[in-house]
Amino acid sequence: MELNELKIILSHEEKFKDINKWKFKEITHGTVSRHKYIVSRKKEKYFIKQIKDNEQFILLELIKIKSNLIPRIFYPNLLKKNVLVQQCVSGKHLKSKKAIDIKLVREFAKFQNGLNKEEIINKINKFSGCNSTVIDESDFFRKGIYSNFDYDKDLFILKKFKLPIVDKFIKLLNYIRKDKENIIDDFCKMPFARQHHDFKEDNIICNPQKLVDWGSSYGHGPFLFDLAPFLVNNEKAFNEFIKYSDICKKYSKEQIKRWLYVALVANFVSLLRYRLNIGGYFKNKKQCKKFLEYEYKTYKFLLK
Ligand SMILES: Nc1ncnc2c1ncn2[C@@H]1O[C@H](COP(=O)(O)OP(=O)(O)OP(=O)(O)O)[C@@H](O)[C@H]1O
Ligand SMILES: [Mg+2]
Repeated sequence: MELNELKIILSHEEKFKDINKWKFKEITHGTVSRHKYIVSRKKEKYFIKQIKDNEQFILLELIKIKSNLIPRIFYPNLLKKNVLVQQCVSGKHLKSKKAIDIKLVREFAKFQNGLNKEEIINKINKFSGCNSTVIDESDFFRKGIYSNFDYDKDLFILKKFKLPIVDKFIKLLNYIRKDKENIIDDFCKMPFARQHHDFKEDNIICNPQKLVDWGSSYGHGPFLFDLAPFLVNNEKAFNEFIKYSDICKKYSKEQIKRWLYVALVANFVSLLRYRLNIGGYFKNKKQCKKFLEYEYKTYKFLLK
């Protein structure tokens, strides 16, 4: 969508009727696949983004359940035209996984509870490509985690940097491989709930903490996948999630801890696949060291 086209769509709303009096500042952070802007006039300011159909769909559902997980959305009717007009949050991104606010964790549990009603699952999973039966869905995730386990070659390429942290990562991978089959099985068989699927520091903006960027959210999945890296080293956040999650109420803490572990493994191998691709991600040894040392603080818990 060209900027002009976006301006025309916006100008149909009373507030934006003098569209040329509004200033559009493009945001270049993140991917450039969809344009996003800070749109301002005098003291007013909005975050405006072109969104895909799946993002439109999930945002409409979040509005329906009055979720506080996301910044406020204005003009929900524009979502149907693939335009998101949202409260502009001025704070920075989350600095570390440990810094997650338990209020955000609570809102996430409530969002999963709200969207776990059967009729919504069937309706909103239409984008996931795995919408027929539970067996099919678990198969879809099984294939995903299996193939992610095989993306470890990038990790071995990183050996060229001769960094101790790379060896630690390899040790970790070899350790979890020993129990690979059971882990995959437990991961796919845990209860499903709606996922954001790009739950990372970059997509949490502060203060108060809100979750943005629902562009990767297509459907339901193993319910602890998104949150696992944020809960594993944070007893307070973990307990808050257990307290509010409807799914957790039905199982023992022991069982939930096992699911947390296997969901963390799924995140670890997904990191190998999507974040370590050497050509794209690391420009040099220093950057590689910084990234791996940061992530190790979370994934070292897999050794326990
Ligand atoms: N409501 C908001 N207020 C202020 N800044 C925001 C808001 N939503 C997102 N941002 C900023 O814009 C950045 C990019 O937006 P977003 O994460 O939605 O898109 P992206 O990462 O480029 O993903 P994609 O284009 O693949 O959907 C965010 O990382 C954040 O810094
Ligand atoms: Mg993003």
